[in-house]
Amino acid sequence: MDQYPKTVELLKGSAVLRPLTHDDKEEVLAFSSTLSHHDLMFLRRDITKPETVEHWLNEIDREQALVIIAEIDGKMVGYGMLSLNDLDWTRHLAELRVLVHPDYRNTGLGRKMIREVFALAVDRGVEKVIARMTLDQTAARSLFHELGFRPEALHEGEVKDLDGNMHDVVRMAVDVKALLARRDIYGLN
Ligand SMILES: CC(C)(COP(=O)(O)OP(=O)(O)OC[C@H]1O[C@@H](n2cnc3c(N)ncnc32)[C@H](O)[C@@H]1OP(=O)(O)O)[C@@H](O)C(=O)NCCC(=O)NCCS
Repeated sequence: MDQYPKTVELLKGSAVLRPLTHDDKEEVLAFSSTLSHHDLMFLRRDITKPETVEHWLNEIDREQALVIIAEIDGKMVGYGMLSLNDLDWTRHLAELRVLVHPDYRNTGLGRKMIREVFALAVDRGVEKVIARMTLDQTAARSLFHELGFRPEALHEGEVKDLDGNMHDVVRMAVDVKALLARRDIYGLN
């Protein structure tokens, strides 16, 4: 993680990327309070709860997760996370999640974060990367699709919103080796 902090150019202005640290708990909670319930529905843990941040930090310390946060003017505006697996039979697999503050969407940050965390997965030798999202998280679907992810499973009625309506969750995946063979197309380093 020597490459951080790192400045990335956005459509307008720039953001600084850096790993999450134990000092960032309040910042994460302030960030998560800006998110709608719909934004949270693809998550495996509720990021608005302090214990989730504790859990992340434990996972980071155990080298089972990487969390990169994006800041603009010192304020957290997004994060990207890679969840690794320690079981022998799922070690090749990791899950990528990304979330951007509603006021900073369509700035190019989501695309940068997905590619940043994807590159970290490649560095760690992950062979297959997955991402989960509700079917109507269309911006996410299109950004992952653009990078080479394809839907591989549909989980019907997997999550419920505040009104009790069920939503389907799509799992997208990419084979890293196959993608890297086409790295020029995707502009990966
Ligand atoms: C997905 C997400 C991270 C994207 O962040 P972002 O900063 O807006 O991303 P970018 O600005 O880099 O790119 C957004 C792209 O989605 C497109 N987009 C935006 N809204 C869209 C929609 N409703 N349908 C289809 N595409 C859409 C934009 O046109 C843009 O593509 P373009 O640059 O080719 O025009 C952000 O929307 C988010 O946090 N969503 C909620 C959580 C989520 O869905 N996470 C993903 C699950 S892993």
